[in-house]
Amino acid sequence: MSPKSNQKNAGSKVPVPARWRRDVEKVLITERQIARRVKSLARQIERDYQGREILVIALLNGTVLFLADLIRHLNLPLRLDFIGVSSYGSGVTSGDLVFTKELRLDVRGRDVLLVDDILDTGKTLSRVLPKMQILKPRRIRTCVLLDKPSRRVEKIAPDYVGFTIPDAFVVGYGLDFSERYRNLPFIGVLRPHIYKELGGDAGLIHGA
Ligand code: IMP
Ligand code: MG
Repeated sequence: MSPKSNQKNAGSKVPVPARWRRDVEKVLITERQIARRVKSLARQIERDYQGREILVIALLNGTVLFLADLIRHLNLPLRLDFIGVSSYGSGVTSGDLVFTKELRLDVRGRDVLLVDDILDTGKTLSRVLPKMQILKPRRIRTCVLLDKPSRRVEKIAPDYVGFTIPDAFVVGYGLDFSERYRNLPFIGVLRPHIYKELGGDAGLIHGA
């Protein structure tokens, strides 16, 4: 499945705010660019789901900011639920996936929009999607804020993509390193020494 969105490649020349300069190497996507893109994604989703009620299922915790902005721009009836997943790996590879929160709403016959922060190796979505399919939704579409196609190991392509980004470890706007930096209003590239200091590399302790 090819992305339904007009993909935007990330890139900005905006300097890193002084407060974050020690940790963040560069601003990859500004607050403004995010806001504009999220609105246009919402318009696109609205068009595709005309006349239907959607069940938005978001993966915790990285989607919180994106999700809040996306759904407030969706002029559609919708219901919202969450799945909690965490991955613990070694090296740059994602490791075992642990489900930390299960769904509460009934998925059967529903139009599901599965929302995640970033599609990297694809291991997370390729584990979550079959778990959803068993519950017999009418259809599932996937929406990710960021796509890092260069690192993909699973054959999976999202339906809606905010931005396609290069192979760099990014934080902010919900994305974390070791549960930090989720509150940055922009998306930035983390300085490698930060994750090296904390042991190995970014993949070692990234949660979902
Ligand atoms: P995947 O299973 O490799 O596709 O990885 C998906 C999950 O890994 C995302 O939901 C994120 O939580 C995490 N992740 C992957 N790349 C990054 C990154 O650059 N920054 C922060 N988290 C990331
Ligand atoms: Mg994460």
